[in-house]
Amino acid sequence: MYYIGIDLGTSAVKLLLMRGDGKIVNIVSREYPISFPHPGWSEQNPEDWMAQTIAGIQLLIQDVDRSEVAGISFGGQMHGLVVLDKNDKVIRPAILWNDGRTSKEVDYLNNVVGREKLSALTANIAFAGFTAPKLLWMRSNEPEKFARIDKIMLPKDYLAYRLTGVHCTDVSDASGMLLFDVEHKCWSREMLDICGVREEQMAQIFESYQPVGTLTAEMAAILGLSPDVVVAAGAGDNAAAAVGTGTVGEGKCNISLGTSGTIFISSKKFGVDQYNGLHSFAHADGHYHLMGCMLSAASCNKWWMEDIIGTGDYAANQAPITDDKLGNNHVYFLPYLMGERSPINDTDARGTFIGMTMDTTRADMTQAMLEGVAFAIRDSFEVARSLGITIERSKICGGGAKSPLWRKIFANVLNVKLDILESEQGPGMGGAMLAAVACGEYPSVEVCCDALVKVVDTVEPDPEIAARYEARYQQYRKIYPALKPVFPLIQ
Ligand code: XUL
Repeated sequence: MYYIGIDLGTSAVKLLLMRGDGKIVNIVSREYPISFPHPGWSEQNPEDWMAQTIAGIQLLIQDVDRSEVAGISFGGQMHGLVVLDKNDKVIRPAILWNDGRTSKEVDYLNNVVGREKLSALTANIAFAGFTAPKLLWMRSNEPEKFARIDKIMLPKDYLAYRLTGVHCTDVSDASGMLLFDVEHKCWSREMLDICGVREEQMAQIFESYQPVGTLTAEMAAILGLSPDVVVAAGAGDNAAAAVGTGTVGEGKCNISLGTSGTIFISSKKFGVDQYNGLHSFAHADGHYHLMGCMLSAASCNKWWMEDIIGTGDYAANQAPITDDKLGNNHVYFLPYLMGERSPINDTDARGTFIGMTMDTTRADMTQAMLEGVAFAIRDSFEVARSLGITIERSKICGGGAKSPLWRKIFANVLNVKLDILESEQGPGMGGAMLAAVACGEYPSVEVCCDALVKVVDTVEPDPEIAARYEARYQQYRKIYPALKPVFPLIQ
């Protein structure tokens, strides 16, 4: 049988068709626009997601026997606020995970409601991109629209709703709303009250690998699929990527370099650190995870290459950055192009190059940009270390993981072994695997991962390069605290 994994990303929806034995039969990608209506705001139209998903599925399955498609599931960009009225019409564009408009609401939640209370209720504190502060923002700034809300959902759940008619979400994505009691996997009544919403407006909660329903007759006809095709709840993109890379069960690690950059640590036990330095979320394997998320990772590379240098030839620009240059760069880059989430939680922070001299080259700046992203992930990695978590190896996935140079920089900046997988289609693969579990092809997510995820190579840190990077990181980590008071002045 075939399973469709839908990775609802920020720049595109990436669809993957997987056979039950894990073979990837086809991949299709369809882009859609993102709008930044004010500096730091970030919105998308859910109808664009849906239109491109339908077109993508049609292309994906055009050359296979459609009666063999058994299941569909998702990995979706997290935290986005999608609101529908009582006629199921989208009330306003979705406010995305990397939108920074809610600093006032975050301040209210963290400092008036209080971090301790938030953490006790939801296992997390407020960050600008999370869903609850967006609801508070809507309530204050768009009261008429807020009053019309009938259903509240997350981005991938909008697709599931349109495919099945079921208002559903899964535990991993729900965790990022700050409305969910992560430990007990249910909505927090108290948080719903704080945000002025009712439980009837919230989705029904499923484990990521559970079926939520089957295709509606209308969708089955549009897609040319059987109405018996099962749709599974799916997961937030990071939890789905973790499934796609076999980061399940106890103590495994995955680094994802998509538009955002994340470090993801799976755990069989629920846990929260006292400073809420990392997000504490439910996992798609039925357990839990800790995660640090930086807002601009591969997007820094895209911005620097395409918007600033004006080239699409990433490899040519990375070619001059040879091993002798690694750990020897005097230029540093803070990757805060959209402000930053983990671990500094600062919507005012901005991208910064520092340390240039008259002999600085374009390659030095390209290298600084790649290194800045790795150093920023190391900041979250250090939080995990401070919790007593030891990480000796990690998987790496996402568009940025295609660059051998960037992989080498990460292995040495973190001083860990990085396992490279046969398929680095993290969230799409994870989505297809969750569909396969929902259809009974595998008895559990962990069994599915054991059967399908294959490591094909490992990038080992080089002791000399890693030592040089250690010294550089110690310098890098002094830059943000020095600039922190300046950022609010230059908005
Ligand atoms: C995770 C997060 C991002 C988005 C990107 O907390 O905000 O990784 O899910 O799609």
